[in-house]
Amino acid sequence: MNQTDNGASGIPTRKLGSFSVGAIGLGAMLLSREGGPDERSAIRTLHVALDAGLTLIDTADTYCTNCSDVGHNERLVAKAVHSWSGSRDEIVIATKGGHCRSADGGWHLDGRPEHLRRACEASLIALGVDVITLYQHHRPDPKVPYEDSVGALKDLQDEGKIRFVGIGNASVTQIAQAMEIVGVTSVQNEFSPSFRTSLEEIEFCATRGVAFLAWAPLGGMAGAGTLGSRHPAFEEVARRRGVSAHQICLAWELATAPTVIPIPGARKPQTILDSLRAADLKLDPEEIAFLNANGPAASPLPARSPGRNPERSAADLLSGRNVAGGSGRRTAGFRSSRASS
Ligand SMILES: NC(=O)c1ccc[n+]([C@@H]2O[C@H](COP(=O)([O-])OP(=O)(O)OC[C@H]3O[C@@H](n4cnc5c(N)ncnc54)[C@H](OP(=O)(O)O)[C@@H]3O)[C@@H](O)[C@H]2O)c1
Repeated sequence: MNQTDNGASGIPTRKLGSFSVGAIGLGAMLLSREGGPDERSAIRTLHVALDAGLTLIDTADTYCTNCSDVGHNERLVAKAVHSWSGSRDEIVIATKGGHCRSADGGWHLDGRPEHLRRACEASLIALGVDVITLYQHHRPDPKVPYEDSVGALKDLQDEGKIRFVGIGNASVTQIAQAMEIVGVTSVQNEFSPSFRTSLEEIEFCATRGVAFLAWAPLGGMAGAGTLGSRHPAFEEVARRRGVSAHQICLAWELATAPTVIPIPGARKPQTILDSLRAADLKLDPEEIAFLNANGPAASPLPARSPGRNPERSAADLLSGRNVAGGSGRRTAGFRSSRASS
């Protein structure tokens, strides 16, 4: 699993089940929110992204405004993909069940097997398919034994309604529990510069070849606009590279493990086009160490020059050892930034 194999689209790919999908996907939730784009603009955003090589779109039955609208995002994504002029063979639409919406737009969980079955059957109709490529349990429901919810997905897989099983918002213990019940293709958890506690699950997935779909990878709709000012280290690397802080953020996430696939949201073509470029952006070990340390106490990033610090191995840099240059300061690495987040 790596980021150097380029798919037919030209975007570096990563493994998702038997698929090789572009290393950056698109989370479609924002296209069905109140105040979101109209259908024409939303479909245009998706078409522009597909033209640029996007092959993974994440949706859910409950990406909609309220309970009268369930399936809105799935229908929108299906309409966009089916009206797109390119080949659909490589496109993965991943959806989820296990959440419900109320009339006022509130969210609640329902992880009962009977609900998951009904939700999956409704998603098959909304997506207009006989088999859902990747069906994810949205979030564990504390009222329902986790093995019952995961077992429901196994039953749906055994019946041929879903091809690959994913889980979401799961701890390492829950991922391990799910893996005892069914083959888990993906885990979808939150991960961003502000939310690094998922590094534990990322490591766990990486060692088992399970794809990790990073949700809200830019800090969510409310946080994406201020990513650079909230995380000056990302802004600094971006300035030196001449790209957006968002690209640096996504490239940093890709660098955490070869199984990570960020799924940034976008309502506008230009934002997803910018994000997709991150798939081609390879950060230096020094830059990764600097971003791992991200925070007011981070050491200044040394000037980029070919051949600098040849004695330092990438492993040293990733582990946070010996990365502070001549300043004598130790820059926090993976584990120390996790411990502090
Ligand atoms: N499993 C779960 O529990 C769960 C929970 C939440 C979300 N998700 C999934 O994760 C996806 C992503 O999360 P999210 O949309 O909440 O947050 P996000 O991806 O962190 O941020 C989305 C925001 O970032 C902006 N943006 C995207 N790329 C950009 C770029 N290159 N430069 C500048 N701005 C950029 C977008 O702007 P514009 O809108 O202006 O284009 C959008 O407002 C969702 O769409 C959904 O599919 C899953």
